[in-house]
Amino acid sequence: MTKGKVDALLGIVFGDEGKGKVVDYFTPRYDVVARFAGGPNAGHTIIFDGKKFVLRSIPSGIFDEGKINIIGNGCVIAPDLFMAEAHELEAAGYELTERLHISRRAHLILPTHRVLDRAYEAAKGKNKVGTTGKGIGPTYSDKAQRVGLRVGDILNNFEEKYRALKARHEQILRDLHFTDYDLTEEEENWLKGIEYMRKFHLTDTEFEINRALAEGKNVLAEGAQGSLLDIDHGTYPYVSSSSTTSGGVCTGLGIAPNTIGHIFGIFKAYSTRVGGGPFPVELFDETGDTLRHIGNEYGAVTGRNRRCGWLDLVALKYAIMINGVTDLVMMKGDVLDGFDTIKVCTAYTKDGVTTTDMPYDTAGWEPVYEDVPGWHTPLTAVREEKDFPKAFADYIAYIEQATGTPIRIVSVGPDREATIIRA
Ligand code: IMP
Repeated sequence: MTKGKVDALLGIVFGDEGKGKVVDYFTPRYDVVARFAGGPNAGHTIIFDGKKFVLRSIPSGIFDEGKINIIGNGCVIAPDLFMAEAHELEAAGYELTERLHISRRAHLILPTHRVLDRAYEAAKGKNKVGTTGKGIGPTYSDKAQRVGLRVGDILNNFEEKYRALKARHEQILRDLHFTDYDLTEEEENWLKGIEYMRKFHLTDTEFEINRALAEGKNVLAEGAQGSLLDIDHGTYPYVSSSSTTSGGVCTGLGIAPNTIGHIFGIFKAYSTRVGGGPFPVELFDETGDTLRHIGNEYGAVTGRNRRCGWLDLVALKYAIMINGVTDLVMMKGDVLDGFDTIKVCTAYTKDGVTTTDMPYDTAGWEPVYEDVPGWHTPLTAVREEKDFPKAFADYIAYIEQATGTPIRIVSVGPDREATIIRA
């Protein structure tokens, strides 16, 4: 029997690369779709049969009958938000309980984790991370502290464990003098979410995935956030708290590195970032506003303005290296349609030093740009590579040459058809 492989689909910059747009190209090719990191801080917008869904914790293969979707052990899950997300899909006619399996090792986000998220952010003042407020950091902290609650605990003496962790959080909040919160309603709903989760397969998903691979089935590991938000390799401390890179696929699903096949790295033809932290290519001028406006760069989870800038090859090359990206997927080329000249950041400079290697701390580094010509042609109607304006084809070739990595898929508009697969 041919052994199956795990392919990874990863946002490789700061998240929001538009994975939701291309998943319908990817998911039909896989038997299992699995999330390996993050939680409801993600918002994968999927437009399907004229309906729009924002998936937060549930993998994108959920729309296809016969596909197994897994929330892996590397994820964190908020029962109340999960229930709301699942109800929306159920209301639209999708059956979930057979299709969705949740790792017993995934950690639970408690209502008090969300309060702690707010309290820690408030305590940081101007150095705040700008989190999504979903309790992600405090939940992963409890995991590392070895005091967290896991999905499997729902089935085993849950009340007592919940009360103990909640009491621990309340003590921390008192110590921080952060007492202005009332969880009565939220907790009631959260406990309903716990009950709701019982109807799903709460299983040992690492065995499921490895058995599927042994049977020759293929698995898609669906990333969340982006590589520069990775707890180890991102722009620490302005990062999320999970392993968002390809290494996280192994630890977050319980699969071995030699089961990994392709690693698809998604990036946009320009750069964006949500939340705090250094962002050398950020544009504070009209060009930045134009990119935000044309690219509709407003957060799917929080509605915040995304910070915008030109493509950053220093960041892109670093992410390709860290992840071992085999194939690139370039999104939103059409957003650059109207520019005479497009800038690309090829290096950073600070205090007379210039580097093309991503620095340990990107604060204070200035971008060094190269100019490339714009194409001045609307790309959105283009359906075949042979119809690319020459300057756009050159932009693609320039990125491929600079990164040494092929761009396999090019998206030039929001429609499903505006996705060009290159040989
Ligand atoms: P947290 O994951 O809520 O703790 O937020 C940490 C940082 O990651 C903040 O700067 C967030 O804006 C950012 N972040 C978290 N999730 C996403 C995402 O899905 N897309 C983009 N940025 C994100």
